[in-house]
Amino acid sequence: MTAPNEGSTWVFGYGSLIYKVDFPFLEREVAAIAGWQRRFWQGSHDHRGTPEAPGRVVTLVPAPGAICKGVAYRVEHAVFEHLDHREKNGYERHAVTISLSAGSRRVGGILYVARADNHAYLGPAPLPELAAHIARSAGPSGSNRDYVLALAQALRELDDPDPHVLALEALLLRR
Ligand code: SIN
Repeated sequence: MTAPNEGSTWVFGYGSLIYKVDFPFLEREVAAIAGWQRRFWQGSHDHRGTPEAPGRVVTLVPAPGAICKGVAYRVEHAVFEHLDHREKNGYERHAVTISLSAGSRRVGGILYVARADNHAYLGPAPLPELAAHIARSAGPSGSNRDYVLALAQALRELDDPDPHVLALEALLLRR
C-alpha cells in the first residue's frame, strides 16, 4: 500500500462528496472500498432537511464482500476544517483502505460514516417509505430529491449501478 504523502490525505467520497466538490484537491481518482454498502439511513438536519423535518442522505453500512465505488481526493490537511464542518451532522472520520483507479494502487485514507448511534440517524425503512420521505424533504442545500437524482447520475458515470440508489431514483421519478 502506498504511504500517505506528508501534508496530504486521501478522502473517499461515496455520496454528495462525489458530485458536489466545494473544496480544493491535489488529485482526484475514481476509487472503491471493500466491505461497505450505501444506505439512505442517515437523517439530514442541515443540508437536505431541517431539525424539525430531517431529510435522508447516505451513510455506509458494513457488508462483507460488497464493493462500494466512489471518488477519492488527495487533499491538504487544512481542507478537513471545511469537510468536518460540511459532514458535521452525525458523520465521523473513519480510516479505510482505498483502491484507486480500478485497483491499480491501494492507499490509506479516510471516509465519513454516520453510525447507528449518532443523534441524526434514522435507520432502515422500506424503499417506498424512503422515497415518500425524500420526496417531501428539503433543506439549505436544496431538495432531498435532487440529492438522490444527482447521486444516481454520478454513480452511472462511475459505472456503479448501486441497486439501492437506482431503485430510489426510479420511485422518485415515477411520483
Ligand atoms: C460522502 O459523500 O462521502 C458522505 C455523505 C454525503 O455527504 O453525502
